[in-house]
Amino acid sequence: MQHIIHRKWWKEVVVYQLYPRSFKDSNGDGIGDLKGIIEKLDYIESLGIDVVWLNPVYESPNDDMGYDISDYRAIMKQFGSMEDFDLLLEGLHSRGIKLIMDLVVNHTSDEHEWFRESRKLRDNPYRNYYHWWDAEKGKPPYRWSIFDKESNAWKYEAATNSYYLHIFSEKQPDLNWENPEVRNQVYDMMRWWMDKGVDGFRLDVITCISKDIAFPELPKDMAPGDWFPYYAKGPNLHAYLQEMNREVFSRYDGMNVGEASGININDALLFVDEDRQELQTFYHFDHTGFGISKDNFMYADHSNRNLVEWKKIFHRWDQVFSKKGWGTIYLGNHDTSRMTSRFGNDSEAYRELSATMLHTFLLSMRATPYIYNGDEIGMVNTNHTSIESYQDVYTINYYHQLKQRGEDAESFLRSHAWISRDNGRTPMQWNNTVNAGFTSGTPWLAVHENYTSLNVEEQETRPGSVLNYVRRMIRLRKNNLTLIYGAFNPVDENNEQLFAYTRELDDQKLLVVLNFSDRPAQLETTIDLSESQILISNYPEPLDKEGYKPYAAVIYQLF
Ligand code: GLC
Ligand code: CA
Repeated sequence: MQHIIHRKWWKEVVVYQLYPRSFKDSNGDGIGDLKGIIEKLDYIESLGIDVVWLNPVYESPNDDMGYDISDYRAIMKQFGSMEDFDLLLEGLHSRGIKLIMDLVVNHTSDEHEWFRESRKLRDNPYRNYYHWWDAEKGKPPYRWSIFDKESNAWKYEAATNSYYLHIFSEKQPDLNWENPEVRNQVYDMMRWWMDKGVDGFRLDVITCISKDIAFPELPKDMAPGDWFPYYAKGPNLHAYLQEMNREVFSRYDGMNVGEASGININDALLFVDEDRQELQTFYHFDHTGFGISKDNFMYADHSNRNLVEWKKIFHRWDQVFSKKGWGTIYLGNHDTSRMTSRFGNDSEAYRELSATMLHTFLLSMRATPYIYNGDEIGMVNTNHTSIESYQDVYTINYYHQLKQRGEDAESFLRSHAWISRDNGRTPMQWNNTVNAGFTSGTPWLAVHENYTSLNVEEQETRPGSVLNYVRRMIRLRKNNLTLIYGAFNPVDENNEQLFAYTRELDDQKLLVVLNFSDRPAQLETTIDLSESQILISNYPEPLDKEGYKPYAAVIYQLF
């Protein structure tokens, strides 16, 4: 029988990820801001969530929408001021909601004071804050960059006749974590925010902070996906995370979650085993290949959607954390297209059903759930196919790269329409007035045209809306420790339409059945449902003689 192990508040929370640029604009400049979020605090509270993860709000020239920070201790002017930030924090705290900040310390902006100094002279005191390669040594060993126009992570600077490393765009130079001064500066800044009252951090590309700084030549013919070991998970990664824990995490009762590109089930516990004192949690990417080309993750492949394989990924990850550590679960964020379009079905007939089904999944797994803003009303992809519709450096630079190389940039765009990050960044749809009530000006990224019917206001009053379902489902999880800590066991694993599993804690047993398809589906199981009680479902009657209805979701309490 499963009992609760290592009960902790941060395992029991539901996190709401808030993308400030697209949430609510208070002053008509078309850009969401902190005052806008403050206007919506009651709405945020009404969801029943416990923690807000705020995407970066620091001073930034916005080459990569705030992931290029030029001042870690200042608020981006477009978003407001430090006073606004303090009010926001107070507003959240007074509602019992915690706030975690995005910590982007693999790189800074090239406009950060450290880099402005660093690039001046070879013997500048800040030189060693970044990775420089002196040109006398010849060209540095090639490193690919997904955000670079020329796909090259080394940028030559004539001023000092050397190259600097930027895994992301050329305006995002990588910090040199080998330099203890850099690390101390980072910890100091983290403590500064914690002392201000924030409740923790989401750690951007944290596995990249340590890399092999000998920069060995890459093996020939390596596929982009295989290059990771040369970019991340370097020899000192665990030492640095332990140091960060000692210097920051251990001193506060906070929460942290690493963005863990490259971590797999075999080394997962090295990061989150409590005894190792590194991170509390991280999020992996294993399930995000669904519908994406196996050969090139920049392209969609709709045929690559195998539910049986997908279910195994979640099962494997659950097993990793069955005794130690703790997982997280998400289906969408600011780096993905919309959850309902990717993993559900965004047709009019099934949009709401598949969205509520996916939320039932998110909120019934043994892992801390992350809900991305807009998903609580089932927002969907925009599917733009013209480059002018995009704002994301990732899309724009890759498109130009292909053009330059004379490759088929248009087919990339057609494919990318379904997976681009901007799909997940369109403004929040509040109501059916112009620009969905997001702004009175011109939105920085066009509002999805379906806002007249798909919006918060419309869903508020309708009991069966996605929004009201999400609220009920969050409440159910919060009031049911079995949904949080209960053992997870798959049921009818080879079913190609249904994802079904039990959750068991002490003497309580639940069965979750989710239909991931647009056809009725029969569950093969010996579990006796005759005495069961339905705790929640997205249909009044989820099951008839043909089976579970399309995109049905149901949680049974078994007796
Ligand atoms: C992370 C962020 C992403 C950003 C990148 C570089 O993956 O989530 O938005 O572009 O890191 O900071
Ligand atoms: Ca604004």
